[in-house]
Amino acid sequence: MVKNNVVSLTSVSSKASTISSLDGDALVIGVAKGAEGAVLLDHPLTEQEAAALSDSLPLLGISGAADEVRRLPSLSSIKASVLVLIGLGPVEGGAPSGEALRRAAGSAIRQLAGLDTVILALPAPGVAELTAVAEGAALGAYSYQARRSNPDAVKDAVKNVSIATSVNARAAKTVLDRATAVGKAVNDTRTLVNEPPSHLYPETFAQSAKDLAKGLPVKITVLDEKRLEKDGYGGILGVGKGSSRPPRLVKVEYSPLKAKRHLALVGKGITFDSGGLSLKPPTGMTTMKCDMAGAAAILTATLAAAELGLPLKITAWLCLAENMPSATAGRPSDVITIFGGKTVEVLNTDAEGRLVMADGLAAGSAEHPDVILDVATLTGAQMIALGNRVAGVMGDDEVSAAIVSAANTAGELFWQMPLPEELRASLDSPVADLANIGEKMGGMMTAAVFLREFVGTAKNTEEQIPWAHLDIAGPAFNESGAYGYTPKQGTGVAVRTLLSYAESLASH
Ligand code: BES
Ligand code: MN
Ligand code: ZN
Repeated sequence: MVKNNVVSLTSVSSKASTISSLDGDALVIGVAKGAEGAVLLDHPLTEQEAAALSDSLPLLGISGAADEVRRLPSLSSIKASVLVLIGLGPVEGGAPSGEALRRAAGSAIRQLAGLDTVILALPAPGVAELTAVAEGAALGAYSYQARRSNPDAVKDAVKNVSIATSVNARAAKTVLDRATAVGKAVNDTRTLVNEPPSHLYPETFAQSAKDLAKGLPVKITVLDEKRLEKDGYGGILGVGKGSSRPPRLVKVEYSPLKAKRHLALVGKGITFDSGGLSLKPPTGMTTMKCDMAGAAAILTATLAAAELGLPLKITAWLCLAENMPSATAGRPSDVITIFGGKTVEVLNTDAEGRLVMADGLAAGSAEHPDVILDVATLTGAQMIALGNRVAGVMGDDEVSAAIVSAANTAGELFWQMPLPEELRASLDSPVADLANIGEKMGGMMTAAVFLREFVGTAKNTEEQIPWAHLDIAGPAFNESGAYGYTPKQGTGVAVRTLLSYAESLASH
């Protein structure tokens, strides 16, 4: 299992004399993009130095645009080896937004990879700003070098970050501990996604879950193919049977004594999606190692909740299979039986995510949790509807709204989409309870309507368990260049939203 290094975050007083006297490879200050050119934000420079630097910004070609990073010689008042300016983009109303700070901190730390120790002197007067800067730093300090013969070909992530803030040391420690846990969770998800399918398949994914959970108060149960057969998990088995690597269902339980509520999480963990016999074209397959990003996100979010000791019971269900074509693969028109007994006619073996998720939702529901969320790289239609950076949320209005609000707090982009009733009929099958494909237009919503059929009832009622489905097909994998705190390839999307949602559930 591949282990990420975890950046060490410390807070320091934002007093100019303190920051200037700190030793480090680089001191980072922010520049905003103003109407009349770039503007220096809070900084520890002397008045003279700041005036001279401000005057030369246009000639240095510094605009303050987001992601613009410039290394300059240090100044006489500054002990750090170099001075670095990071752009925040346009800043409205004087103070940058939390997300602008998070991105600037992340962008600077990411682009300074190779250095050991960096001081971030961005405006962080309060807990909210410090949270954003610390999270950005933790998210920017990521590198994936596991599968290189020469790991030095990729620069090491920054190892130590000191963050200037007016927040007192005690309060700052709480913020930094949380940011460290968030950063670890997101970076572990990125690495699980980045791992090639030659190395990460259901069995090794399950082992990674155990490795990552070492020392935490969680219980991990791995159901192998024999056990899945015995218990009737026809969705996971039906998808996994074309592969030489058998499927797994991993149950991760965090159940602190003080918990009042129970959150169930279900994650799609297709370690590679070839499409199966309904084979994808080659270009459609190149990113399909990312098809386990939902399972990775619910795993690391649950472990972070355990690490932080949230007073909330969480049960995470990782539905792991490899979708491959072979003589043992499922055929279009096969009928499978999902956990709990519903039957599905598989008309397209490439619509496999909903089959493994159906098992996970049915099994998760059998424990009657208070809320059930599922996270999946479920449909190409998600990307058509919302693009590469915005995830879709569908389900009960109340849960969906809470997810959107948690995402806004966390700095992720989630957008609610409807579940039009008329789509249900398109999933009727002439031979089984349901077909696994239906209306193509709005296919993200069709998939969600399919999943809804497998959400069970709340304890002692006929009502459905409050539920939301998160389709992260686009945002889970960054096929273009790195930006802000987001690297290429696995992004770790949904982890921060899930944790933020879990925190709000625990506190109400
Ligand atoms: N894993 C894919 C969805 C996907 C596509 C995720 C691109 C990330 C990027 C999923 O299993 C799939 O193949 N969905 C089909 C469903 C269709 C056959 C109804 C799709 O979207 O084409
Ligand atoms: Mn597929
Ligand atoms: Zn898939």
